[in-house]
Amino acid sequence: MTHPRSSLPRTTSRCTAAVALVAAAGLLAASPASSATPDRPRAAAADAGTLAPPDIPISNVKAHLTQFQSIATANGGNRAHGRTGYKASIDYVKAKLDAAGFTTSVQQFTSSGSTGYNLIADWPGGDPDQVLMAGAHLDSVSSGAGINDNASGSAAVLETALAVSRAQLQPTKHLRFAWWGAEELGLVGSRYYVNNLTADDRARVSGYINLDMVGSPNPGYFVYDDDPAIEKVFKDWYAGIGIPTETETEGDGRSDHASFKNVGIPVGGLFTGASRTKTAAQAAKWGGTSGQTFDRCYHSSCDTSTNISDTALDRNSDALAHAIWTLGTTEPLPPGESYENTTDVAIPDNAAAVTSALTVSGRTGNAPTALRVGVDIKHTWRGDLVVDLLAPDGTAYRLKNSSSSDSADNVITAYTVDTSAETANGAWQLRVQDVASQDTGYIDSWKLTF
Ligand code: TRP
Ligand code: ZN
Ligand code: CA
Repeated sequence: MTHPRSSLPRTTSRCTAAVALVAAAGLLAASPASSATPDRPRAAAADAGTLAPPDIPISNVKAHLTQFQSIATANGGNRAHGRTGYKASIDYVKAKLDAAGFTTSVQQFTSSGSTGYNLIADWPGGDPDQVLMAGAHLDSVSSGAGINDNASGSAAVLETALAVSRAQLQPTKHLRFAWWGAEELGLVGSRYYVNNLTADDRARVSGYINLDMVGSPNPGYFVYDDDPAIEKVFKDWYAGIGIPTETETEGDGRSDHASFKNVGIPVGGLFTGASRTKTAAQAAKWGGTSGQTFDRCYHSSCDTSTNISDTALDRNSDALAHAIWTLGTTEPLPPGESYENTTDVAIPDNAAAVTSALTVSGRTGNAPTALRVGVDIKHTWRGDLVVDLLAPDGTAYRLKNSSSSDSADNVITAYTVDTSAETANGAWQLRVQDVASQDTGYIDSWKLTF
């Protein structure tokens, strides 16, 4: 349909062929114009939900060990896969988490003819596309109670989860804690868990932190050398208390992190040593006894409540809490960051709408109440144009209506739109339709400023 034209001479500011040429130049990826770092940890305590990491009370961690020891004692001296002491351990941990507001689930599997159990505890909230996990194997070998291996890691992970609840933490990432069954039979439970995640759910796990043997009685301070970000957070924490660390080398792939690492999930973790011998140099920097193993009760009946260094267990519990707080909470990007698409898009004359997209990522929550939409459209009769902003979910916000009387060239302006009902991250589009014949133009560029 043609609208009545004024008798003014029509200006042609650009030749149509040239427009088509630039429009065919291909899609450019939109990118943030500022240099903000997306995954920067929060510097310090600030607003609600972002309090500083807590000091995990060692007495609480030790109380869990006492319970695990009692469970073993009441169940033939162990908490091994397929034995009653294992299921009792699951029940103990699950009850604590349920009471603290976690969403728990018990995953069953079969290994060596017995039913095994993984316990998964999700802390409600956070970005479901960025899941930070921490876990520990809950089973012992059948020869003992498995207090260092691995009630220690199980208790540290449990008490960290309970601290998340006490703080009512509102991390930007989704937090998930896990206790694995049948690790001692060959990482069976964690492998079962990972194998049963959909490809999408696997991709959502941004990191897995493993704690297996973190209270060895003659301890070393070993940090897994895997994902650099996780490794750094642990090394920095230890450096902050003046304790040197070493890279874990006693068996890469010998605990549940291997199940995650094998499918490409970033992993990290802590370890205080098993059957290797502490050197003189290690004793000099860490204390303890050189020429003796880190854990002389490794996989034996003397791995009981007394087979623990409280100091090592305390440090590793605090280090885990620090890592969860730091890696789980990414700083919201500062206001003022822009995303721009500078690829030209031809606007056909009196025809269907065209769109230009740009992807916003790395932000949290909803878009602002005053989103700035910068528009640069070259056109020889801008009254022909209807312009909308489309949110990632497709909601349209009208920026400009057509007007038969507006014969000026170009739409070069910025609009302010209340987009507080929209998720910030995702593909935003500028939609432009030319609704009257004769004049044409193109989207030169457009930009969102958050
Ligand atoms: N649970 C492990 C095992 O029995 C203990 C262990 C040995 C370990 N080497 C390790 C744990 C290295 C972490 C890293 O084999
Ligand atoms: Zn073991
Ligand atoms: Ca037109």
